Amino acid sequence: MKKITIAIDGFSSCGKSTMAKALARNIGYLYFDSGAMYRAVALYCMQNGIINEEDIDTESLNDNIKHIHISFEADPETGNSMTFLNGVNVEHEIRTIEVSRFVSKIAALDFVRNEMVEQQREMGKSKGIVMDGRDIGTTVFPDAEMKVFVTASAEVRAQRRYDELAARGDNPDYNEILENVLQRDHLDQTREISPLKQADDAHLLDNSNMTRDEQMEWLIETYNKIASEC
Ligand code: DC
Repeated sequence: MKKITIAIDGFSSCGKSTMAKALARNIGYLYFDSGAMYRAVALYCMQNGIINEEDIDTESLNDNIKHIHISFEADPETGNSMTFLNGVNVEHEIRTIEVSRFVSKIAALDFVRNEMVEQQREMGKSKGIVMDGRDIGTTVFPDAEMKVFVTASAEVRAQRRYDELAARGDNPDYNEILENVLQRDHLDQTREISPLKQADDAHLLDNSNMTRDEQMEWLIETYNKIASEC
């Protein structure tokens, strides 16, 4: 079958990355986490004094943006994708709370998005990839053969996040999480540059009441149908 490009976009805490990774593994495609790229740029800013508390030195970041190169490699033991910032493995550091606090501001800067989109297109030029994010089907790969827009009710997503934190031994507050989910939805959808929205030709996947197996079955069926027609 001809290799295609698969774009998976959607709301936060929908399980996008987990499903995108599993789909890529199932069909022998490469997986790219575009959110990790914005996280790596935020880490670069923290490491280089470009971001301090609430302020970003946008001039300095703009001067340096062409020197920020993100790549991915598979962990030889687990096969999981690892993020590299200028050749250094930063997979662990980009998942910290500090990076999470800054990343949405970094992802809202037009020159950062332009550079990341350029690097993402380079990664996808040979096709055979699954990339997840917020603007993959609308901006990065508007011609992707398979586009999926993932959603679930805010209450279901808040409950999943609650369960995740509780399993880690935290003592989460459900209402606080729900509030945060709704706030992030609003920010993602109303952002001026590349706001989160379903591409006209995207397949909607509401996984509120689906098990992981049912979801994978749906994805593989959709992929087989699209790839066989290409
Ligand atoms: O999916 P995530 O939480 O790792 O994403 C990190 C941040 O990057 C989040 O603020 C959303 C943003 N993002 C984006 O603006 N565009 C993408 N294609 C992917 C992520």
